[in-house]
Amino acid sequence: MTIGIIGAMREEITPLLEHYKKHEAIAFGGNTFYKVTLGNKTLIIACSRIGKVHSALTASTMVLNFGCEKIIFNGVAGGINPSYKIGDLVLASKLCQHDVDITAFGHPYGYFSESKIFTESDCVLNGIAKAIAKENGINLHEGVVATGDQFVHSKERKEWIKKEFNADAIEMEGASVAVVCDNLNVPICVIRAISDNAGDEALVSYEEFLESSARVSALLVIKMIEKL
Ligand code: ADE
Repeated sequence: MTIGIIGAMREEITPLLEHYKKHEAIAFGGNTFYKVTLGNKTLIIACSRIGKVHSALTASTMVLNFGCEKIIFNGVAGGINPSYKIGDLVLASKLCQHDVDITAFGHPYGYFSESKIFTESDCVLNGIAKAIAKENGINLHEGVVATGDQFVHSKERKEWIKKEFNADAIEMEGASVAVVCDNLNVPICVIRAISDNAGDEALVSYEEFLESSARVSALLVIKMIEKL
């Protein structure tokens, strides 16, 4: 089985490459993909770079070029749900694109014609993540994740996203990867650890906690790989 693991930032894949020390770097399509062989499992790990386009390109490449049969997204997110604290883990139950706006045509926010507002993640992969969390006493929130090409650092914008999509966390890649996986029939799981609360102090918090929260998320992903 070949499993793709994507992080948007270098900090989000470094803990994985440190853990899977023996990896082969393969250059493809302007990016580097790291191949790890674990018995009958092959991992393809990549840093997509930030945003919806980069992450969609990486997910498509993983599936169509490297033959990935499952995709796990690993990284950090801004918390919208007030009960989420820095370092808490979030499993995306479904994902949407908060920056999509063709309301001029009478459509709701987040909707593109012939598509849908929310894309579900895979319940089997999510079940494995939840079982691991339970076994290890890890507090794993399950919530709606909103994606957009914006680093959200304002109370107003975050409240709008919460109101419009009932979102619990915000990031910049999950929904685009989920759309690719949905269209290519590949199961997807999005795991994120909170680095900031997407409010006015988000940048300071993000810079402080990016690395530590990325490690929290990667630890759960590594445990998932052991179970797959
Ligand atoms: N990823 C982590 N924090 C974020 C934020 N506040 N906005 C968008 N993506 C993020």
